[in-house]
Amino acid sequence: MKIKNKQRKGILLAGGSGTRLHPLTSYTSKQILPVFDKPMIYYPLTTLMLSGIKEILIISSPRDLPNFKNLLGDGRRLGLKIDYAEQLTPNGIAEAFLIGETFIGNSRSALILGDNLFYFQGMRDFLQNASQQIKGSTIFGYYVNNPSNYGVVSFSETGAVQEIVEKPKSTKSNYAVTGLYFYDSDVVEIAKSLTPSERGELEITDINKSYLKRGSLDVKIFSRGTAWLDMGNPKHLLDAANFVRIVEERQGLKIGCPEETAYRMAYIDKNQLTEIIKPIENSDYGLYLKMVAESV
Ligand code: DAU
Repeated sequence: MKIKNKQRKGILLAGGSGTRLHPLTSYTSKQILPVFDKPMIYYPLTTLMLSGIKEILIISSPRDLPNFKNLLGDGRRLGLKIDYAEQLTPNGIAEAFLIGETFIGNSRSALILGDNLFYFQGMRDFLQNASQQIKGSTIFGYYVNNPSNYGVVSFSETGAVQEIVEKPKSTKSNYAVTGLYFYDSDVVEIAKSLTPSERGELEITDINKSYLKRGSLDVKIFSRGTAWLDMGNPKHLLDAANFVRIVEERQGLKIGCPEETAYRMAYIDKNQLTEIIKPIENSDYGLYLKMVAESV
């Protein structure tokens, strides 16, 4: 059954210890570091916006949450409603649904990891379509050459989902589970039933396994030509920055620009975009937004 995806809420998880990026993360959050011309969090934020989501909870550590509040405020200037919540220690990705219980209420939700960048043709339609699902969950598989670093989903000969395993030593499939998840309102109760894994975390993979067991896990495959990057170590951070620079310079169009997305999604109108531009009109970013405002 499909309904309008009006009330799906989004959680953007931007905590964690960021140890692989030390010393950069000894004084600030990984998800606020620059990825070419904007903070990392702009990329997953824009992905949630493209999915049609307007109510967003940003979860981060007590140390780093103030930086995100300074950057994004209550979200009103982007036509969003942004709330914030602390994760005291990195107890696992699935803890987002315990922290976010009140925020989610009885809505459906989406979770995106703050270090995931998605970029592909037709993103808006693809994501909005996935987000319309009313019952069960939708996650995304992406063919990689190093599946052991991820949650891995394998399929039967008929294409049915067989199993999902978190960072298996030997893999039955090359399909990694990406850091974007759509769930129905049962996810909070499922998260409450989890126990920590061997590495001491509440695993997102265990939530997905639970949906698989109920027969309500849909895995959509990203096709070749999709860019899915995570930015959790220095090399991947530089790779992502180079990717963004190359595409942006070639096309003159930005990747992960929330002001542009807010405008194109009609979350804000031209007057509101013009107000955003005023104080930054001499920057490259401001000039770009000016071009966007004048082009539509
Ligand atoms: O990127 C996709 C992968 O993300 C999935 O394939 C895996 O199934 C999933 O477990 C996860 O694996 P990672 O090893 O990348 O997870 P990591 O611990 O690096 O956390 C991912 C992001 O979530 C990172 O930006 C930090 C944030 N995080 C993580 C944990 C454990 C939090 O904010 N709080 C946490 O407690």
